[in-house]
Amino acid sequence: MAENWQAKDKVKPKGLDGISDQQVEYHFETHYKGYVNKLNEIWEKLPNADRSKANQNYSEFRELKLEETFNYDGALLHEIYFGNLSKDHSAVPESFKKHVEKDFGSYEKWVEDFKATGIAFRGWSLCVFDLNTGKLRNIGADVHNTNGIWNAIVILAMDVYEHAYYTDYGPKRAPYLDAFLKNVKWSDVEGKLQKAQKMYEIFK
Ligand SMILES: [Fe+2]
Repeated sequence: MAENWQAKDKVKPKGLDGISDQQVEYHFETHYKGYVNKLNEIWEKLPNADRSKANQNYSEFRELKLEETFNYDGALLHEIYFGNLSKDHSAVPESFKKHVEKDFGSYEKWVEDFKATGIAFRGWSLCVFDLNTGKLRNIGADVHNTNGIWNAIVILAMDVYEHAYYTDYGPKRAPYLDAFLKNVKWSDVEGKLQKAQKMYEIFK
């Protein structure tokens, strides 16, 4: 059975200060749910897409994969966005302040950077916890996806740029893919998977 994303109606905020219920209504019902609906439509079609016709210039498989991450990230980031908001004005917790003081110098500097990121990018200003360094960072995104999904941990990476295989195979990418898979150090992948599973247990 195809995967299915359930819309999270419980994260829809009401009574915000300076963001009207009408604004939230359009944003939540039309935009957020639009991503959820299209993602589910893509997940219906993906299992049957012809993988043997995969092509980087155009193929049904490529188009479905591209729009899968666009709609997945659109749904996910909107759930985080709406879940981040509430009509109850809460104080900034000390633990958050301490963290941004360490990484940005002061809370005010973090705010300045977060807002400047919101001006400098076309889609999102995101405060992220960088698992590689343990630092908080503000990052901007012009679109939801760069064909990846947020909060996902890479456990196996195959470089398919020409520079990774041209010396051996010229323009033939397919034999390089087989060679790559023959050489995978699975203990490394397994180690990353185990760490990622632990993260999931903590995060869910
Ligand atoms: Fe939006």
